[in-house]
This record gives sequence, structure tokens and C-alpha cells, in this order.
Amino acid sequence: MNRNLLILGLTVLFLGTFVVIGIRSVQSQSDMVQRGKYLVDAVSACGHCHTPRAGAEYNMDMYLAGHPANAPYPRYNFSMMQQGIFLLISPQLSAFSGPFGTSFASNLTPDKETGLGEWNEEMFIGAMRTGHHQGVESNRKILPPMPTKHYAQMSDADLKAIWAYLRTITPVKNEVSPALNPRGRPY
Ligand code: HEC
Repeated sequence: MNRNLLILGLTVLFLGTFVVIGIRSVQSQSDMVQRGKYLVDAVSACGHCHTPRAGAEYNMDMYLAGHPANAPYPRYNFSMMQQGIFLLISPQLSAFSGPFGTSFASNLTPDKETGLGEWNEEMFIGAMRTGHHQGVESNRKILPPMPTKHYAQMSDADLKAIWAYLRTITPVKNEVSPALNPRGRPY
């Protein structure tokens, strides 16, 4: 009888430990997502470029979905330099043209075909740290005005939190145009 009670007690203790560990890890995952949201929305203002505007307001149906497919975009011309112009911006504030070419804020939602759905954490952190497309050094540089030089200084924990949050946002299908070189051809 006593032996049975002891076994029961130990079993409860044993299973209880797993339940506690399980709850803790769910909790820390959701803390991480919350921290990622705070970093994206309040600290680094990713939506400032990656969420297009509709008029003066953010178009929240396209939260972090990048420059809208087929929306017109400006084209820089070198003679503008003499007029003191370095950067042209589309009305959605999501496409940019300058001496570097033309860049389009990318789709950061987890959509598989048009967003970061097929990316993994390593590619994301690599891109943010190296400033090269998808984090591969031999790929082209990520163009202005994406502030990679600043984001490269973030801690691993913060970049991981941002990535964790980006996995949870609503996927939006939006095929963003590829970046163009100064002659207007894809890089
Ligand atoms: C000032 C505008 C701006 C801000 C703010 C900004 N981005 Fe970007 N981002 C861009 C532009 C423009 C591109 C496209 C650049 C290109 O195609 O070379 C881009 C590209 C990216 C890419 C794709 C990189 C690749 O490998 O092709 C990722 C990922 C990204 N941004 C994440 C973020 C995150 C996360 C934040 C906030 C922490 C952020 N961006 C804030 C403008 C911005």
C-alpha cells in the first residue's frame, strides 16, 4: 500500500515537472513574440517603409506586406543631383529611387509565394546582419533606405524575437517588384 502511494506520488511529481516545463516554454515563446512586436512597431518602425500608405494613413490590410504590386513608382535620373535631389519616394512611401537604383520595400508577411514564408531564421538574421540579400555574402547588397547598418547592431535575442513575431502576422499575397539598377534593369 505504502509502496503504491510512493509510486503514485513520484509519477505525479514526474509528470508535473513536464507540465511546468511545457507551460514555461509556451510562456517564453509568447513573451518573445510580444517583444518582437514591440521592436517592430515601436522601436525600429519597420512598417514606416514596409506597410504601404493609403493616402495619409497606413493601409493596415497590407500590414508589413511591402510595396503594392503594380503600383507606380518613381525613377531617378542623375541630372536630379544638380537640383539637390537624392531620393524619390512613391505616394505609398514604399518604393524609393536614387543614384543606387530603385528599391521596393519587401513583403515581410509569412505568405509562401510572395513573402518570407520560405525563409528561415538564419536567412533573416543573415540579411539583417550582413546587408546582403537573404544573408548570402555573394548576393547583391540590400539597397537604401533599408537601414541594415543600424539593424546589424541588434542583439541575436532581439533579431530572433523580430523573426518570431513576423511568423505570426497575417500572410498577405503581394508580389513586390524586384529591385532595379540605375539603368532600370533588375539587379
Ligand atoms: C527606411 C525604410 C525601411 C525601414 C524602416 C525598414 N526597411 Fe526593410 N527594406 C526596405 C527596402 C526599401 C527594402 C528592399 C531593399 C532591396 O530590395 O534591396 C527592404 C528589405 C528588407 C528585407 C529583405 C532583405 C533581403 O534579403 O532581400 C527584410 C527582411 C527587411 N527589409 C526587414 C526589415 C525589418 C525587420 C525592419 C524593421 C526592423 C525593416 N526592414 C525596416 C526599407 C526599410
